Order: sequence, then C-alpha cells, then structure tokens
Amino acid sequence: MSGRVEGKVAFISGAARGQGRAHAVRLAQEGANIIAFDACEPLEAQGAPPASEADLAETVALVEKEDRRIVAAKADVRDYEGVAKLLANGVDQLGRVDIVAANAGIQGYAADAADIREEDWRAVLDTNLTGVWNTARAAIPYMIEQGDGGAILLVSSSLALKAASRFAGYTAAKHGVIGLMRSLAVELAQHMIRVNSIHPTTVPTPLLLNENNWRIFRPDLEHPTLDDVIHLYRGLNLLPVPWVESEDVANALLFLASDEARYITGVTFPVDAGMSIK
Ligand SMILES: NC(=O)c1ccc[n+]([C@@H]2O[C@H](COP(=O)([O-])OP(=O)(O)OC[C@H]3O[C@@H](n4cnc5c(N)ncnc54)[C@H](O)[C@@H]3O)[C@@H](O)[C@H]2O)c1
Repeated sequence: MSGRVEGKVAFISGAARGQGRAHAVRLAQEGANIIAFDACEPLEAQGAPPASEADLAETVALVEKEDRRIVAAKADVRDYEGVAKLLANGVDQLGRVDIVAANAGIQGYAADAADIREEDWRAVLDTNLTGVWNTARAAIPYMIEQGDGGAILLVSSSLALKAASRFAGYTAAKHGVIGLMRSLAVELAQHMIRVNSIHPTTVPTPLLLNENNWRIFRPDLEHPTLDDVIHLYRGLNLLPVPWVESEDVANALLFLASDEARYITGVTFPVDAGMSIK
C-alpha cells in the first residue's frame, strides 16, 4: 500500500535524527509533506550527545529524496513562541497541517528521585511534557480551522506503562503525556481530530546508544560498551530482541496518523516487544 497519508502535512519535533527522522522519512514515503524542527544543540540533562544542524540537513535530504517537500528549522520545544513561528512559516509554505508527531525528548540522568538535581528535573519535565504540549497546542488552531480532522501523536515511552527506578523525572513526564493525550482526545474529538500516545521500548538511537546509558546498566564498569549491556536490553523485552528499530515506531505512527486508524483515539499504543507486560 502506498500514499497512506497522501496530501497531508506532518509537523514533527526532534526531527534531526533517531525516531523523529524516521517519522519524517516514513510519512514522506507515504505522501506527506513535512514541517520539521529540532534544537540541534547541546541540551541540559540530555545524557546523549547533541544533534546538529547537519543532522537536520540530512533529514531534509532524505525527505526530498522521497520527492516530498520539507520546511525545517532550528527551534527548542520549550520555547512556545519559536515553535509557533516556525509552524506558521511551514503552514505558509505547505498550506496546512494534518498530523502532529510530538517526538522531541531527552533522557535525563539516572538518579534516585530524592537525589535528582532540580535543574535536571525541570529540563526533563519542560522538554518531555511541556514541550509536547507546546508542539500540539501550536498546531491545534490550524487543525480546527481546517475543519477536516487530523491526528496528533504524542511520543511517550514504555516507562509510562511500567515504572523503573532511577528515572522518576522521565517516568513522571512520560506518564504526564498520557494525561495530556487523553485530555486532548476528549477536547478534540468533536473536530474529528484524533489523539494517541506511542510507547516505545528501547530504540537504538543516540539517546540509547551512549556511554551514560550503558553505565546505568553497568555501574561496575568505568567505560562500558554496547557489548557489555546488549543482553540486559534484551532482558527488558518479552520478545528476545534488545530493541525495536526507529522504523518500527515510525510504522506504528504512520498507521495511527492514517485513515486506517480513523476511529482510534485516546489510546496508549505500545511498540515495545512486549516490555510492558513482562
Ligand atoms: N531511544 C529509546 O530507547 C526511547 C525509548 C522510549 C521512548 N523514547 C522517546 O522517543 C523520542 C525520540 O527519541 P530518540 O530515541 O529518537 O532520541 P534522540 O536523542 O536520537 O532524538 C531526540 C531528538 O530530539 C531533539 N530534542 C531534544 N530536546 C529538544 C528540545 N528541547 N527542543 C527541540 N528538539 C529537542 C534532540 O536534539 C534529538 O535530535 C523521545 O521523546 C524519547 O524520550 C526513546
């Protein structure tokens, strides 16, 4: 099947790399034009190495390779004015917005809840919860005004369906995304705008594949490598795989964004190799 989102415009945060890039490319392959943004710079409490403007340029090139249009800009999800401005520019150029993928996020640093530094707590909540709200709320007035529905996808995590120790800020923010998703689903149903959250298990993006993350799993090693932890990632999931690929998450997002899911709203959609029921 092709053209599953033909003629639609998708607005994607955190699109420079990882899952955000996969969402841009997959939606473009199925006919959507893209409005994309990313901070493209070092961020507080990111844990992972920062994305760059070259990464965002690579996403642009990959979407254009699919013969789709893309408007891309550097912006921080925590800055509502900046997000609203770049979306206005995107809508000016591409005519509309039908799909929102609120994907940008940071991992934060592992620490027991009582020991999390206040600035790290704030960075994680501001990015992973308020940033998701900012991305959705910038697009909602256009979608209502257009009058023909749409789909909003909020990227949460397995850690919203199951708790783990030493990630209270991330876990709280990702649970908060479910509350936001349900509230938006209730408010926007009258406009045929559907709102769902997506809950990936481990995904091999820079967020996961970095020494900070590996040290969480192997605190006994000074410089752990992927080889030291991959069996531990596999142990998180019910299916015997260490992770799902970004393309697996993008396929789920595409389905939920498309008319195939036209009556699915208010749902927490796991892409988790069974992690949440393990
Ligand atoms: N990788 C995993 O194991 C995993 C698992 C479950 C959920 N998630 C979630 O998936 C989403 C995508 O993560 P990923 O795995 O692709 O990680 P990633 O680090 O590769 O990509 C995240 C992107 O978001 C951008 N970003 C972060 N903060 C931003 C901000 N304030 N403003 C604008 N852009 C910002 C980064 O620059 C980066 O390009 C995140 O919400 C993450 O929490 C990831």
